[in-house]
Amino acid sequence: QELELKLEMLEKGGFEHFMLKEIYEQPRSIKDCMRGRIYPSEGKVQLGGIKEFAEKLKNIDRIIIVACGTSWHAGLVGEYLIEEYARIPVEVEYASEFRYRNPIITEKDVVIAISQSGETADTMAAIEMAKERGATIFGICNVAGASIPRLTHAGVYTHAGPEIGVASTKAFTAQVTVLTLMAFYMAQQRGTITESKMIELLTELDHIPEKIQKALESDKLIKEVAEKIKDSRNCLFLGRGSGFPVALEGALKLKEISYIHAEGYPAAEMKHGPIALIDEEMPVVFIATQNSSYEKVISNIQEVKARKGKVIAIVTEGDTEVKKMADYCIEIPDANEAFLPLLATIPLQLLSYHIAVLRGCNIDQPRNLAKSVTVE
Ligand code: G6P
Repeated sequence: QELELKLEMLEKGGFEHFMLKEIYEQPRSIKDCMRGRIYPSEGKVQLGGIKEFAEKLKNIDRIIIVACGTSWHAGLVGEYLIEEYARIPVEVEYASEFRYRNPIITEKDVVIAISQSGETADTMAAIEMAKERGATIFGICNVAGASIPRLTHAGVYTHAGPEIGVASTKAFTAQVTVLTLMAFYMAQQRGTITESKMIELLTELDHIPEKIQKALESDKLIKEVAEKIKDSRNCLFLGRGSGFPVALEGALKLKEISYIHAEGYPAAEMKHGPIALIDEEMPVVFIATQNSSYEKVISNIQEVKARKGKVIAIVTEGDTEVKKMADYCIEIPDANEAFLPLLATIPLQLLSYHIAVLRGCNIDQPRNLAKSVTVE
């Protein structure tokens, strides 16, 4: 038994939990995910897994992304990126809903199935249906040789390495990285991006792992924030643009491992409901980085403060505006809006982790949840 314990310690690489180890692995896992796929100085993306379909991508009408759980959140980030850069309409569907509708699918549709495990039953069923109706199916999976990569026509692996913690962390950021690469690749094929813009974006993307490393350095501060809000019964996560799926993912992480009821919302929707919940007991986590929706988010923060809510804000390094209003600010390095989800997710993962540890929860195997859901 002593040997078993030692082995487990070794597997966790000195970290107390797999989840924490996996959070800290992200600078490396993202680098692995991009390796051999980006050529910043030439402004080129290469995705060997889907290159056979390079021509087809010029003529598609629509992309439908199907996934479950955290992978579905990655899909929402993908929607922003693909529409922004490749100008292809994207729909993001819960696989479980999609498979039981009678969706309109044509041969000019590409379905992207996202799955860490590659074994999720609902996602597999959605793929089978779309395939029968003539769509081209791409997979974004982490586990090589799993069922989903075998069902799809083509795909891109995330290469995040094995993820043991039930709550997905490094697999999510790797999925977002692949979707970023796919958006740029499609833009390159369709001529919706200039070479100089590609050089600029890829040069910055190449340095994202270092910025993630920097974001991890707020760990101590995040632990202090966790101490302050650990006894909350509810928590709200708000963001706009691609900060919205980040908010959804932040809320999911918190509920999964700490059992605190948490909701993610687009910040502007707060006034249509969640604002009724705000009082001095309610922590509200804002994605308030300096991007196109910064000013709007600031006014949402003011609305929460006017109702005495506790504001925890994820801000861009050096921010002064939000600092005047928020109770706690956690900084992340400045980056192009396209890469915001990769950075803003990191402090939210750490926040959930520390809250769950302080509450004495089972971090790597939360109650009632499974790493891979092979039944519907
Ligand atoms: C389960 C896991 C989640 C995961 C979801 C989808 O609920 O606990 O972490 O996001 O399944 O799994 P997949 O393997 O398809 O990404």
